[in-house]
Amino acid sequence: MPSVFVLNGPNLNLLGSREPATYGSETLADLEARLQSACDQRGIELVFRQSNHEGELVAWIHDAGAAGAPVILNAGAYTHSSIALRDAISGANADVVEVHISNVHAREHFRHRSMISAVARGVILGFGLRSYELALEALFPSGGQGSGRFLP
Ligand code: DQA
Repeated sequence: MPSVFVLNGPNLNLLGSREPATYGSETLADLEARLQSACDQRGIELVFRQSNHEGELVAWIHDAGAAGAPVILNAGAYTHSSIALRDAISGANADVVEVHISNVHAREHFRHRSMISAVARGVILGFGLRSYELALEALFPSGGQGSGRFLP
């Protein structure tokens, strides 16, 4: 069975109570439930994780790369600073879709730069928790073969 890693970075454990005007009122557990049902429909195994620690995210990216599983990655604030995450993606040859709940380009200037975008297959942002579902749809089209790969 194909699998997909959904990796969430720092402070995303606070979803639901954290700045609801920006991130909404649904929790990380709500997000996992949504994605679990979308994965069940597609016959995909969901590996859903969150960490506030950069090194743990690095290790999980390595795991996904070694397993040949695509990654939907919301690296939170590490997006804007972490060369380690960028190098993990390149080094493990991980197939990453970068996602953000908010439209980071409509926010503070320091959120406009991503260390990850250049090594990601694609970027989806600004659609709330739907950003993750859209990333899953991009990787595993519900109407298609679900190969996890687009033609170049
Ligand atoms: C975020 C945007 C980041 O700038 C921020 O640090 C987050 C969440 C988003 O999903 O919109 O933690 O990645």
